[in-house]
Amino acid sequence: MAYGVPLAIIGLFCLQAVLGTGSAENNLKLKLFVKSSGEDTQSQSVYRDYPAYRSQFANVNTFAPEFFRTGYGNGLTSQAAFVEAINNRSTTWKAGVNPKRNDQYRPGVLSEESMKFQLPLGFVLMKDEQPLPASFDARQKWSYCPSMNMVRNQGCCDSSYAVAAVSTMTDRWCVHSEGKAQFNFGAFDVISCCHRCGFGCDGGVPNAVWHYWVENGITSGGAFGTHQGCQSYPFDVCKKSGEANNAPLCLRLCQPGYNVTYAEDKHYGRVAYTVPKDEERIMYEVFNFGPAQATFTMYTDFVQYKSGVYRHTFGVRVGTHSVKVMGWGVENNVKYWLCANSWGAQWGDDGFFKIVRGEDHLNFETNVVAGLPLFR
Ligand SMILES: *[C@@H]1O[C@H](CO)[C@@H](O)[C@H](O)[C@H]1NC(C)=O
Ligand SMILES: *[C@@H]1O[C@H](CO)[C@@H](O)[C@H](O)[C@H]1NC(C)=O
Repeated sequence: MAYGVPLAIIGLFCLQAVLGTGSAENNLKLKLFVKSSGEDTQSQSVYRDYPAYRSQFANVNTFAPEFFRTGYGNGLTSQAAFVEAINNRSTTWKAGVNPKRNDQYRPGVLSEESMKFQLPLGFVLMKDEQPLPASFDARQKWSYCPSMNMVRNQGCCDSSYAVAAVSTMTDRWCVHSEGKAQFNFGAFDVISCCHRCGFGCDGGVPNAVWHYWVENGITSGGAFGTHQGCQSYPFDVCKKSGEANNAPLCLRLCQPGYNVTYAEDKHYGRVAYTVPKDEERIMYEVFNFGPAQATFTMYTDFVQYKSGVYRHTFGVRVGTHSVKVMGWGVENNVKYWLCANSWGAQWGDDGFFKIVRGEDHLNFETNVVAGLPLFR
């Protein structure tokens, strides 16, 4: 039985902390064990040389016609040919043309910086171990959490590090209050005020967003144009080709008409952790504690995803992207993770997608992070 393993792992890592439990954990007889990281592994100097750092990534913003390169030497000049080339080659998923121009579908993770910011490892343990189902969809298990059906839209901003994180926190706020509390965490606070999280609209570090949640809290925020929450999301489509917007300034204010102050609107996490790089550990985490944030290498073919189980087939690397993992299953004998993207509900499979599971495809299983909410 696979779940005997973590006890041994825990001994190995000299666990130092057993956290207090919230209501969902008590009811499920679950415990989260966190391996203490000892000291903060993040060096303050990491982000000091920002202009030089940013220039390294400048070429990431030039999509077309590079965007349709196959990665096999032969350039394709049109999107139609690129889509056809993917469909000729791919056996598990279908490519198509999504409604927005390709350079509007943006990633948002700084992969090198992310490796420097480590969170402790967190293991979900259960007293009465149950086998995991062959397929699972968080939207069905927690049908009282409406946020799980909503797909975010990061717009013209390389902010998936923040958007996928706050989307996951919103779901977990609902899950761990058993539907009694809903709080729509917004990315505005993260991209404008969390300077250790990254560079606003030029990418960032998912782990640092979870750390910010615990240390500083995060405010609420509705979608672009909604005027909901403390600060609604500030970006929609790109005005100029290829160029991300600049993140808003950190004002520590809620928008006019919102009744609660910025400080009062802050809602906090109790703990943030990395889920061990293991298919079953990730499944166990999502099954018991709700959606988690996953990060993977993004290639140009991912932008063309329409249906099926995505496996990188064609194209060149765009960057690193972050999404919300919500479940799993098997389709035509191919194991997949079920995920929500943050490119709006018109992209892909109504905003969702499936990606190959169990092979650490594009480092997907290496970079899963999560946390638990703090209810006062
Ligand atoms: C796709 O396959 C068809 C049929 O084999 C072929 O005619 C076409 O050139 C291929 N297209 C691309 C872009 O590779
Ligand atoms: C403002 O706050 C009061 C008291 O908490 C509440 O009853 C009211 O509905 C709020 N108004 C708005 C517009 O949110």
